[in-house]
Amino acid sequence: MDKLNMKFPPTVVLTTFIWLLLLNLSLHQGKGLPYMTSDVQQVSGKSFDYIIVGGGTAGCPLAATLSEKFTVLLVERGGSPYGNPLVIDKKYYGLSLLQTDEFSSVAQSFISKDGVSNLRGRVLGGSSSINGGFYSRASEDSVKKAGWDEGLVKEAYGWVESKVVFTPQLTPWQSVVEFGLLETGIQPYNGFSLEHLKGTKVGGTVFDELGKRHTSADLLDAGNPNNVMVLLNTTVKNIIIDTNCKGNETRVQGIRFIKSDGSSSKIHEAYLNQPNNSSRWGDVILSAGALGSPQILLLSGIGSHEHLKKFNISVKVGLEDVGHGIQDNPSIAVLVDKMPAKRQPESPQIVGIADDFRFIIEAGVVPISLNASRTRISAKIAFPASKGKLELNSRDPRQNPSVTFNYLAEEKDLQECVKMVQLLERVAKSESVSMFLGITPNNTKSMSSADRRKKLCKSSVRTFYHYHGGCRIGSVVDKDYRVYGVKGLRVIDGSTFQESPGTNPMATLMMLGRYQGIKLLQEWKDNSYSQHP
Ligand SMILES: Cc1cc2nc3c(=O)[nH]c(=O)nc-3n(C[C@H](O)[C@H](O)[C@H](O)COP(=O)(O)OP(=O)(O)OC[C@H]3O[C@@H](n4cnc5c(N)ncnc54)[C@H](O)[C@@H]3O)c2cc1C
Ligand SMILES: *[C@@H]1O[C@H](CO)[C@@H](O)[C@H](O)[C@H]1NC(C)=O
Ligand SMILES: *[C@@H]1O[C@H](CO)[C@@H](O)[C@H](O)[C@H]1NC(C)=O
Ligand SMILES: *[C@@H]1O[C@H](CO)[C@@H](O)[C@H](O)[C@H]1NC(C)=O
Ligand SMILES: *[C@@H]1O[C@H](CO)[C@@H](O)[C@H](O)[C@H]1NC(C)=O
Ligand SMILES: *[C@@H]1O[C@H](CO)[C@@H](O)[C@H](O)[C@H]1NC(C)=O
Ligand SMILES: *[C@@H]1O[C@H](CO)[C@@H](O)[C@H](O)[C@H]1NC(C)=O
Ligand SMILES: *[C@@H]1O[C@H](CO)[C@@H](O)[C@H](O)[C@H]1NC(C)=O
Repeated sequence: MDKLNMKFPPTVVLTTFIWLLLLNLSLHQGKGLPYMTSDVQQVSGKSFDYIIVGGGTAGCPLAATLSEKFTVLLVERGGSPYGNPLVIDKKYYGLSLLQTDEFSSVAQSFISKDGVSNLRGRVLGGSSSINGGFYSRASEDSVKKAGWDEGLVKEAYGWVESKVVFTPQLTPWQSVVEFGLLETGIQPYNGFSLEHLKGTKVGGTVFDELGKRHTSADLLDAGNPNNVMVLLNTTVKNIIIDTNCKGNETRVQGIRFIKSDGSSSKIHEAYLNQPNNSSRWGDVILSAGALGSPQILLLSGIGSHEHLKKFNISVKVGLEDVGHGIQDNPSIAVLVDKMPAKRQPESPQIVGIADDFRFIIEAGVVPISLNASRTRISAKIAFPASKGKLELNSRDPRQNPSVTFNYLAEEKDLQECVKMVQLLERVAKSESVSMFLGITPNNTKSMSSADRRKKLCKSSVRTFYHYHGGCRIGSVVDKDYRVYGVKGLRVIDGSTFQESPGTNPMATLMMLGRYQGIKLLQEWKDNSYSQHP
């Protein structure tokens, strides 16, 4: 700086500085992140056009999109991902999953009643802030089945991808897995592609070239920062529902929330704007995830009479299906190293999409402690038949609800699992993988009968973390994601999926937030409620 000052008059220096600043701003395309606070007082008693509960994978792009025309409150029970190395730094990949506590860690652990350990995000960005970062669009078939507008789906994926998706640099282990999958016959090789294609491919990643994670929170940057208020470290307790407001209409008025840290039991409220002279209001939109959204509905008195009675919650809408049909994709993982090592943890970058899209195979290096990791290959059943149930565990919204996935309960799933294990064993024993790990390929005719594999499936079933359902389309929400039997309430997140999009769901949930946001903007335009802001 001193040197510059000597060479150039101050005005030139200043102009250069401003020019560089502008250049920097124009390269950085966003409009800036919205205002974020953890102070409930700043929101208590205020009104907004839309209130989004859960600043997760779907909630953030939804908030950004709605903010183009409306005022939006986004409430997230966790803190900010920015400045948190456990979230942002790829070199700490997976450690957040080990360092969990009851009420404040960015990853919250839960154990399903099946006895399987699992995790969910508790931070702005949601599970996209703690996950493997593997990015892959849903297949065309899934998009058709969901009944979405294909053009708008493409546009919404493109919007997401221009902001948070990168091409990975394959690590040696990922290249080895790529060869192992091809060797096993998971063909053709599709190279790098964001599409869900039969065969072996390299997927997208939310980790950039500098090893920095881009979470769905980064998508907030694309909204109108003046229209969004992000309330962090705040847990929504329930929805305010008025049943006597207009004749026999049941309508949502707002939300009740508490501080997440439990430092105060005070309950605060925020409301939906009541536009003057209009029958049309905004909505409270639940984007609290597959577990969070059904939990909040139940806590608000939307659910089965019998269940709510047990918790002394008065029934506002007797919607029996809330929490029903929740699913998790059964997964089996094989450790291919002999013992824990100090290898740098590694997120999956390669995927094998086998057996007519039924099996998804990935590999990674996962930390098991601060200084040790395991190398593994894992597979999931893409379309399980077994379904489960989510129920309340407590009236405390900060506690996990109780969830049973019923892994492999249906015979079809068990049969598929046996086939999947067979395939997984072939990949694990492929020459590429064996050579890389310095293990002589073991071609000994194993005693691996279907029975042994069945037993293995039952004893070792685990999660691929793609659990979904709980507020399924057609039973809890309609095709426009509106909750049946109540006005002004929608659910937009993984809880609405009838089946997970075959592939890893993050891409589709980011897309869904954008897509439904655009749909809502269009709805208002079409109905031209001109008196509304
Ligand atoms: C460990 C792990 C690894 C994964 N790896 C991948 C991967 O590599 N690729 C991939 O595509 N998918 C992956 N997934 C799956 C994917 O991340 C999730 O399916 C997806 O992020 C879910 O999005 P969502 O919007 O439904 O919910 P979430 O992103 O979980 O968002 C829900 C948000 O709501 C908040 N919330 C909940 N309850 C309340 C409340 N009462 N009040 C206020 N806020 C609340 C939560 O804190 C959270 O931020 C992984 C998941 C996990 C857990
Ligand atoms: C929000 O919660 C996180 C996690 O408990 C904590 O680290 C952070 O300090 C909190 N922020 C504020 C402003 O309270
Ligand atoms: C109550 O609901 C019924 C059926 O939805 C409707 O026909 C009726 O007009 C409603 N009554 C009032 C007072 O809104
Ligand atoms: C509603 O309309 C009345 C009369 O036009 C006006 O006085 C009032 O300020 C309006 N309220 C809002 C919230 O716009
Ligand atoms: C709403 O406004 C229109 C015209 O601006 C008027 O004709 C109508 O009576 C109003 N309705 C109510 C319920 O105020
Ligand atoms: C159930 O709720 C009622 C009314 O809110 C209250 O009076 C009663 O004490 C509650 N009972 C229990 C067991 O919580
Ligand atoms: C990790 O650290 C612990 C304690 O410091 C030590 O006992 C263990 O051997 C280490 N593991 C590896 C794989 O280095
Ligand atoms: C080879 O595989 C068989 C069956 O899986 C196993 O019983 C045997 O111990 C293995 N041999 C070696 C050298 O690992």
